[in-house]
Amino acid sequence: MWLRPACAVQRLAVRTLHVSASSTQRAPLTLNGIEHPTDDYTNIPASILRRVHPAPQLPYLDGQPLNLLRTEIERILGPKYESIRAPSPVVSTRLNFDELGFPEDHPGRRPSDTYFVNRGTCLRTHTSAHQMETFRANHLRWLLTADVFRRDEIDSSHYPVFHQMEGASVWDEAAFAPGGSVEKECEAMEAQLAQAQMEIADDVSLDEAGGWQPQHLAQSPRAAELTVRHLKATLNTLVYGLFQPRWAVESEGGEPLKVRWIPAFFPFTSPSFEVEVWFRGKWLEILGCGVVQQPILNRAGLADKVGWAFGLGLERIAMVLFSIPDIRLFWSEDRRFSSQFCRPADGTLPLMTFKPYSKYPPCYKDISFWLPGSFHENDLFETVRDCAGDLVEDVACIDQFVHPKTKRESRCYRVNYRSMDRNLENEHVNALHAAVLDRLRREFRLEIR
Ligand code: PHE
Repeated sequence: MWLRPACAVQRLAVRTLHVSASSTQRAPLTLNGIEHPTDDYTNIPASILRRVHPAPQLPYLDGQPLNLLRTEIERILGPKYESIRAPSPVVSTRLNFDELGFPEDHPGRRPSDTYFVNRGTCLRTHTSAHQMETFRANHLRWLLTADVFRRDEIDSSHYPVFHQMEGASVWDEAAFAPGGSVEKECEAMEAQLAQAQMEIADDVSLDEAGGWQPQHLAQSPRAAELTVRHLKATLNTLVYGLFQPRWAVESEGGEPLKVRWIPAFFPFTSPSFEVEVWFRGKWLEILGCGVVQQPILNRAGLADKVGWAFGLGLERIAMVLFSIPDIRLFWSEDRRFSSQFCRPADGTLPLMTFKPYSKYPPCYKDISFWLPGSFHENDLFETVRDCAGDLVEDVACIDQFVHPKTKRESRCYRVNYRSMDRNLENEHVNALHAAVLDRLRREFRLEIR
């Protein structure tokens, strides 16, 4: 399972595994002052390198909706949760995948989906990459915010860098005793939730959610059960705190906010769940969560603890809460954007709606080509992004056919170039598009039609 900044509408199935063309450059790569060897997995283009630390950390900047959202989540969950700012996004594949139990053949491990510095080092694809070291440093209750990187499609809700927040809480045996702190906290949160204008659908069977872990069944079934109870009360409280003020306005106070729990799978939790909220006519996937796999805590030196973890995408929530129509806007340096997201004097998340300052005309250009033997569409997206930066709004496959005689496959992608803050000159777009075509020909040997 892989939480995206927005519901990933998979336009085309992943076909082939492809190592990016930049793998031919074998010079070492210096990131944050540290030199890394490169190899056949290296696939970080310049446009992404610019976003690697010490790039601006949006969830900590003034005038950033992601900052408002981060601090609001921290406020709702309260001071018991330590707020942790993540270190560099350059992590070992051991921390990002192996320690979390990702199988060798997991799609997330492919260079088509992940940015690799080399075979053993990547840009973190999720904040869970920091679970192991955070637990090992003896943090027991925390919220960690970070930028994460994924190779992906291009549209108004997908950007190769986005932000996640990971939360976790673990306790020792005494806290799980009858009348102990976990039970007391559950009761307090559940009493609050009973007053809330919220309908919670939660009929997930344990089997569907992956079942209890063998070690918990054998040694601490009560702890695992209380962990799930605490997880659900905590996240229902969080979702209610975040969405209720907006929902009350939009539904004109009529209906209760609707939340549902669905079964999920993550290699690092069991049982595992996803939480969805009914908002503007659809179920919005908010977060993934579950009981931390005990071997992770054991290896982190917390063998005497049991607990939960969750991970959520900040952009996805901010886009619906504040009606931000395009994910590129978070990176805009235009004052017309940031001036709308000043912190309100009373410190609470404002009931603010982004007012678009203008919509400049789109400029569409098509790319038609014969598919070479090995090609992944993420390579095309990456090339467009690398040449055009934030001037590309959307890339979509609009046609696909197989030649009846030669059996060769042809595809046509439509690129929509549009700036968020100015009118684009035709000549400028033509030059960008020519650069895209040139690189596709040279680096991927695409036969442009
Ligand atoms: N890391 C998961 C993702 O990005 C989310 C998650 C975090 C799930 C923690 C469970 C526990 O999809």
